Amino acid sequence: VAVALGVFAVAFLLGSIPWGVIISKAVYHTDIREHGSGNIGTTNAMRTMGKAGGVAVFLLDFGKGLASGALAMAAANLLLPNAGLAADALVSRNLLLAISAMGCTWGHIFSPWLGFHGGKGIAVAIGALCFTFGPVGAVVEVFVIFAPLVLITRYVSVGSIASAALCPVIAAVLFWGEWPVIAIYALTGGTVVWAHRANIARLAAGTESRIGSKKKKAD
Ligand code: G3P
Repeated sequence: VAVALGVFAVAFLLGSIPWGVIISKAVYHTDIREHGSGNIGTTNAMRTMGKAGGVAVFLLDFGKGLASGALAMAAANLLLPNAGLAADALVSRNLLLAISAMGCTWGHIFSPWLGFHGGKGIAVAIGALCFTFGPVGAVVEVFVIFAPLVLITRYVSVGSIASAALCPVIAAVLFWGEWPVIAIYALTGGTVVWAHRANIARLAAGTESRIGSKKKKAD
């Protein structure tokens, strides 16, 4: 349990690094939160700082997710050698991985450095899922759910919300029987959907920005 708490705490701290704000201030001498949707993530970075800024924020946010997954994997291998893949262990490897994905995503969404506000968790979660779901799960999330929906609707948020909402479904397929693991992915996906509540309201009102459109709307 101490290992799980430690992994959660380090993943949360990693996730809390607000790269969107750091890059916008350090490189562009502005605060991304005052532009576009006001979000600190890739979509708004792309919208307000252009391709280079967007790619930089994506890679850094994705990287912290990846790092949190790697950390959990290392902690599981080093500190839970007997738990391994055992689903019935108190803290199994899959549970540790799920806890780190949740910690990192929550750190990003509720960053203490931004008054417990933050981003919406997509790039971070995708990074974490590369480890926690494994490559197949991450590919399904990105290339089967997210990308086609974004291309069809031209709303990044539609792809994001669907990927987050389906996260527990994929978790159920991958980790059937490991209910605490599936519950954590449901909680994490639910938090990411909740973080998109302003997008959901804009989608319902027909005022959400589409890719390529210059329309700006503050959260
Ligand atoms: O993942 C964030 C994306 O779904 C929406 O971003 O800036 O349009 O609110 P934004």
